[in-house]
Formats: sequence, structure tokens, C-alpha cells
Amino acid sequence: MRGYVSVNLTSMRRILSNNLLSHICLFGRNLPSHASITFGLRSDFAQKFIRKATTDSTSMDLSDMRKKYKGDEECFEESQLVSLDPVKQFGNWFDEATKCSAVGEPNAMCISTATKDGRPSARMVLLKGYSNEGFRFFTNYESRKGNELENNPYACLVFYWEPLNRQIRIEGNVERIPYQTSCDYFHSRPKSSQIGAVVSRQSTAVPNRDYLRQKNAELEEKYKDTEVPMPDYWGGYIVKPNLIEFWQGQTNRLHDRIVFTKSKDGENELEEFQHAAEGGWVYQRLSP
Ligand SMILES: Cc1cc2nc3c(=O)[nH]c(=O)nc-3n(C[C@H](O)[C@H](O)[C@H](O)COP(=O)(O)O)c2cc1C
Repeated sequence: MRGYVSVNLTSMRRILSNNLLSHICLFGRNLPSHASITFGLRSDFAQKFIRKATTDSTSMDLSDMRKKYKGDEECFEESQLVSLDPVKQFGNWFDEATKCSAVGEPNAMCISTATKDGRPSARMVLLKGYSNEGFRFFTNYESRKGNELENNPYACLVFYWEPLNRQIRIEGNVERIPYQTSCDYFHSRPKSSQIGAVVSRQSTAVPNRDYLRQKNAELEEKYKDTEVPMPDYWGGYIVKPNLIEFWQGQTNRLHDRIVFTKSKDGENELEEFQHAAEGGWVYQRLSP
């Protein structure tokens, strides 16, 4: 797209900042040729900029990387909560994320766990169900996250639906779900996924990719005509929430944050700016 050639350096940097720099950062020095095609930037200028940006990867200026969120008229007020039950409010935002075609995987969430002595780790997993009880996902109980959860059964989940400028944070204690529920889900997955779960002793070192390939082929042969038994190191967890925070981004950086909290016994004495909600929850607005 030759049109970009005529834009001045500042606006070119902004375009590149917003659209390309994330690709540049992700692919580092091995910038694939499709990166320029993706955004139609074929000019010499763009190519040189990309080359320079990728070779200068130790010092990237991302200070211009800023996205326009919503205007104040689109703010998220307490009166717009569809429910004072935060799980129902979650459901409302989750449905909207599901209907938004620009959101690739609405159920992808980051889960943070920590060792007993408080060293955190985080990774993405898929939400596989939610209810008043909590938020469910499946994994390998012997993985890093599994080990951390066994020793320190607390987690924090974060959903970020970028096209909607929305984030939800959920904190709570974590329990394994019943064996039979895990089993039912395990067998509802495609056979290749079931075998994949058996192949992968998640988070352990392997010699190379061929090792996994071979193991996968062996198991495919072994279970060709029979059901794959669910390994005992695989199953689901439920995060039982005691905090759910709804964040709506605004252009003027006066982002909306409404946080629901629940005490252990469901008994809450309202503090200043706190309001009673449903089911033992209280809520308040936080400064962004
Ligand atoms: C979008 C996305 C979804 C994922 N979903 C899952 C999942 O549902 N369960 C899972 O165990 N790993 C999932 N993974 C892989 C994890 O991020 C992670 O690599 C793996 O669970 C090992 O993490 P750990 O070593 O910290 O335990 C997913 C990764 C991505 C990027």
C-alpha cells in the first residue's frame, strides 16, 4: 500500500506502534516476510523501519503504543450492572465477548498460581464452565501449575477481551473437581486430544519433538479400537471466587473498575463506599 509512504515519521511510528510493533517484538530478528504483507506496508521506508526496529531490539521505544478506548459517554456505571450477582455479571460480559467476532478465544484466560513461598507463575488456559460454584478448567495435576496449586490452593484468573476494552479479574481458592466430572469431560474430547493428554507429562523435560511424536503414534495404535483411559494425573480444577473485578477501559484513562468481594463466612460489614450486593457479595468502585 503505497499510501503509507507519504505519511510523516510520527504518524508512521504510531501506525507501526499500534499495528506492527507487537509482531516485531514477537518475532524478533526472524521477522517473517508476511509481517509486512499483513498490514500492506511494502514501502522501502517501512521495510527499513522494520529492519532497524528488529536489529535494535534491545532498545524499543513503545511510549507511543496506546489504543483509543471508549469515550466518557460509554462509561461503565454501577447502574449498568445487569446483576448484583457478579457471576451473572460475568456471564453477561462473557456472552458479549462470545458474540464479538473480533474476540478469537473468549474463554482464554490467564491463570496465576504461586509456590508456597509466594513465587508467582502465570499461563493461559481455557475456561470450560462456570456457575455460582466457580470457574472450571482442565489440566495436568502434575504440571507446574498443578504442583503449585496442590501446595498453595489459590489462583487468580484474568480475562482480557481487547476489542471490547474489557478485563475481568477473579481471585479465589482452588479445588479439584470430582473425578467422574473430569472423566466425563475427558471422554467428550476428540480422541486425538485424549491421547495428547496421555502423551504429555506436562511441564517435564523431553529429549526432542520426535520423542513426543513417537509416543503419540504408539498410543494412537494402542487405543485404535478402545477407549483411552483418563490418566490419573489429568483433571479439572474449580476456582471458587472471593473477588471479581470488572474493568472497562476509557479513552481518557478514567477507566471503570467495579470490584465485588465476598468474605469467607459471607458476613460483610459495609465499609465506606461499599454497597451490598447479592449472595453475600459487596461491591465498590476503585480508582483506575
Ligand atoms: C490459548 C491457550 C489455551 C490453553 N489452554 C490450556 C488448558 O486449558 N489447559 C492446559 O493445561 N494448558 C493450556 N494451555 C497451555 C498452558 O498455557 C501451559 O503451557 C501449560 O498448561 C503448562 O503450564 P505450566 O507448566 O505452567 O503448568 C493453553 C495455552 C494457550 C495459549
